[in-house]
Amino acid sequence: MELLALAKAAALAAGRLQREYFDKNIEVKRKGEIDLVTEVDIKSEALIVSLLKTSGIPILAEEQAKTEPKGRYWLVDPLDGTTNYAHHFPWFAPSIALMEDKEPVLGVIYHVMLDEIFWAEKEKGAFLNGRQINVSQVAKLNDAVLATGFPYGVHDQPEKVVGAFHDFLIKAQGVRRAGAAALDLAYVACGRFDGFWEPLLKPWDTAAGILLVKEAGGRVTNYRGEAYDPFQNNILASNGLIHEEMIPIASKYVP
Ligand code: IPD
Ligand code: CA
Ligand code: CA
Repeated sequence: MELLALAKAAALAAGRLQREYFDKNIEVKRKGEIDLVTEVDIKSEALIVSLLKTSGIPILAEEQAKTEPKGRYWLVDPLDGTTNYAHHFPWFAPSIALMEDKEPVLGVIYHVMLDEIFWAEKEKGAFLNGRQINVSQVAKLNDAVLATGFPYGVHDQPEKVVGAFHDFLIKAQGVRRAGAAALDLAYVACGRFDGFWEPLLKPWDTAAGILLVKEAGGRVTNYRGEAYDPFQNNILASNGLIHEEMIPIASKYVP
């Protein structure tokens, strides 16, 4: 199967599983103080891996993450938004990227409960359910709706997270915190959000999403405005137009 079709099929299959278990009482374990993993994360990952394996391309997946492969590999978050999922909050997505070293060249994110599948391929544009998408045209932070998330380490070091939240809150039209970084990025790509920032994400959280934002005409950097790759620990993504206004705020809070 062609690689984009394979990645979409894997995301849709994981999504079906996640929908099926959504209202059920599932087993939830802790990976850290507030970092959860459910039996559906594990089952989704096994399903995605079993499908992607048919491509013969190596796989780096969250729940069995080992060392970063070189060259071409799949980078998989089987269920982004685990805390939401564990609390029956319908906001989560499998996220799958095909990487070439540190660069995503194909990305698929599936918003399961809205049945919205986002995808992008390098230099071929970004799409939502088959329709090409673009970032928003909002040019001022004051007119912008931004998204962010709070990292699992927030209990140890709340100051920087709250500081950035405060500073963006008083400049933007609104700030949302829905709990799935992959969807935050997909929403920047389709213009529902104008910008996004978050510290301490993992590569599988952002890989597919950053390709979507770039292919939809947006800009992705670290907090200082420098080139970003998903192995860095701070990300700033936007429609491009408000990026320069976001950098001075974000750069005060580099983790
Ligand atoms: C998390 C989500 C959340 C973000 C966390 C991530 P997970 O991923 O993307 O929005 O704030 O930092 O770790 O654990 O649900 O796959
Ligand atoms: Ca994640
Ligand atoms: Ca996850």
